[in-house]
Amino acid sequence: MPQGSETRSDGAEQAPGNAPAGGNTRRGLLIGAGLAGIAGLAAACGGTDDGGEAGDSNGSGGSTGGARPNGGGQPQGGGREIAKTADIPVGGGKVFEDAKVVVCQPAQGQFKAFSSACTHRGCAVGSVSDGTINCHCHGSKFKITDGSVAAPPADEPLPEKKITVQGDQIMLA
Ligand code: FES
Repeated sequence: MPQGSETRSDGAEQAPGNAPAGGNTRRGLLIGAGLAGIAGLAAACGGTDDGGEAGDSNGSGGSTGGARPNGGGQPQGGGREIAKTADIPVGGGKVFEDAKVVVCQPAQGQFKAFSSACTHRGCAVGSVSDGTINCHCHGSKFKITDGSVAAPPADEPLPEKKITVQGDQIMLA
């Protein structure tokens, strides 16, 4: 059997000059087209809807309902109540982890709120005492009057948060 003009791909290299590069290229194109087709099929099949498991939502209401004021005449776009004025000691403050704020009352009837994220490395501040908001991670302290640094290593003040006081409720804007 003569191996004349047929090109065979038995693995070994063909004789120089008699092996056109077109054979490999054509095969590559065919393989590429096949892969593209498979990819297309896979994409088309991606959206099967299994229906999922029937999700009983018994008791999964979250905890949003707690302290909602029942005042009908609240201003629109208002925030949410985070504390009662009576909760905040004069000359002190309180950290509200959920709301990520610390609310202070530097003077009677004067309320301020700051982000509870320490500006040093981002720990949540842990307490308010002796006129300062204290971060327990590395010891930074911030003044309750304006959030400025009272003790390093933090070197930037706590950002102030906007609050409004309506009656005995402190609302986070
Ligand atoms: S993160 Fe608060 S002192 Fe370092």
